[in-house]
Amino acid sequence: MKVTVITGSPHKKGTSALLADEFIRGAQEAEWETFRFDAAFEQVAPCLGCDRCGIGAAPCTQKDGMQKLMPELLASQAVALVTPLYYFGFSAQIKTVIDRFYANNYKLTGGKKAFLLATAYDSNDWTMEALTAHYETLSRYLQWEDAGRVLAVGCGVRSDIERTQFPQEAYQLGLSLK
Ligand SMILES: Cc1cc2nc3c(=O)[nH]c(=O)nc-3n(C[C@H](O)[C@H](O)[C@H](O)COP(=O)(O)O)c2cc1C
Repeated sequence: MKVTVITGSPHKKGTSALLADEFIRGAQEAEWETFRFDAAFEQVAPCLGCDRCGIGAAPCTQKDGMQKLMPELLASQAVALVTPLYYFGFSAQIKTVIDRFYANNYKLTGGKKAFLLATAYDSNDWTMEALTAHYETLSRYLQWEDAGRVLAVGCGVRSDIERTQFPQEAYQLGLSLK
């Protein structure tokens, strides 16, 4: 069994990177194979909307990092989306990858568990509202089963999140794949 972990932060040692590390540690302990795709460090261009793929009838015309990700993602039984909160949504880095799902939209539909792990500076009760609404709608549309979330509010920098229970929650979420 394989889980693909897609991250969206440009900080290699940032807050969401720690959640990804801990989630992966748990998943590996649960004896799942893991594939990590750090979108900020890959070349992934935005979807051109050219529709040459016919939403899955033909390959995407753009040849870039998605060619590395897509076979892994298609072969995965679970996917974890890991993002810093950027203006109340996914970061552009990970959203660019999500938009590129388009060329494989139907092949990606169904049969996967989904996880959301996110970090944010703010800690209002509505801080993660728009992101979770997006995630829920995306999961619903792709018929992915929401298998859990870690919403690390009040974690603007690494030293903040290291003082919280969120890394442990991320580890437990990975382990829950068992
Ligand atoms: C462009 C940008 C937009 C941000 N937008 C928000 C936001 O809407 N709400 C919030 O609470 N924090 C926001 N933040 C703060 C980050 O979500 C926060 O610092 C997070 O821990 C960064 O994660 P990282 O270390 O994994 O990159 C923003 C940061 C940046 C750089």
